[in-house]
Amino acid sequence: MKTPITFYKWTLLAGYSSCLVGFLLLTTTGETFAQQQNPVQGETLFVGYCSRCHGIGGTGGEGPSLQGRQFVRATEESDLARLVLTGISGTVMSRTWVTREEASQIASYVWSLARVENQPALGDVSSGREIFNGIGGCINCHIVSGRGVGIGPDLSNVGVRRGLPFLRESVLAPGTSISKGSRGSHSSFLAVRVEMNDGRKMRGMRINEDAFILNLRDTEGSYYMLQKEEMRSMTREFGESIMPEYGSTLSNKQITDLVAYMASLR
Ligand code: HEC
Ligand code: HEC
Repeated sequence: MKTPITFYKWTLLAGYSSCLVGFLLLTTTGETFAQQQNPVQGETLFVGYCSRCHGIGGTGGEGPSLQGRQFVRATEESDLARLVLTGISGTVMSRTWVTREEASQIASYVWSLARVENQPALGDVSSGREIFNGIGGCINCHIVSGRGVGIGPDLSNVGVRRGLPFLRESVLAPGTSISKGSRGSHSSFLAVRVEMNDGRKMRGMRINEDAFILNLRDTEGSYYMLQKEEMRSMTREFGESIMPEYGSTLSNKQITDLVAYMASLR
């Protein structure tokens, strides 16, 4: 969403002042304030600020589905408004710069989504689990409930964090979630390609790096500690994944089962 900078500043100002006014209103006439919420306006704001991660209608994407569910961090509508204004620390969901009133409108819309029935994940969870631990080889790079290898992110509660479209996409087109720059949700999962002075070539996940040394783990699970002065070249592959693409090796049904299994991890 493009906002002219003056408008942005104005919104900020409005945000702060309406925080104050909102607070006063809440303490005196809490109920009337709550009744003014208009979910239709909330929906428009949601499309603008939230749908790129939560999908239009809250169906889920990089962020989880918001339909028909209980929230971990919100037991009532006002908790949702606070969540919008603060974001969720430690996740990609940062604070949204809206006024307190707009936050309440968004909250009221999101709260109404709780009554929409969530699309159940199609697919067979137990078959998905077998593929994950077996022919998919996912367990060689991911940990689920303490089992597996942590080359990629821990997937123990991926069903809470991610929506179905995102889960499917991560299997078909890995790396879509990785940022293109050094700052972003998955900058810690950076693929690096190295060529040593003696001609050895390696590619793997960066585990650790300082001015002199690069620690690397390749897809076979081998661990390397490489001196930078012995390197001919080193390429940090921002935006690329070492995770294989499964579109051609797994059938559509197998992928649907995998997605159902991952959605069940909560
Ligand atoms: C950059 C992506 C992104 C944007 C933009 C975003 N979210 Fe989120 N949101 C997430 C992710 C990821 C999670 C899951 C966090 C976790 O539990 O690890 C999440 C979680 C949530 C939750 C569930 C919290 C819980 O405790 O169960 C709610 C509700 C929510 N977001 C609402 C919103 C609203 C409303 C907006 C817009 C004002 C928004 N989000 C914008 C990524 C985003
Ligand atoms: C060679 C290692 C490797 C294998 C094998 C692998 N992954 Fe991944 N996976 C990764 C890495 C690394 C990431 C981090 C982001 C990226 O690079 O795409 C990731 C990211 C993901 C994500 C996104 C998680 C999030 O919250 O952002 C999902 C979902 C996922 N993998 C599922 C799977 C499934 C299902 C399989 C098996 C069919 C699998 N992975 C096999 C390395 C692997």
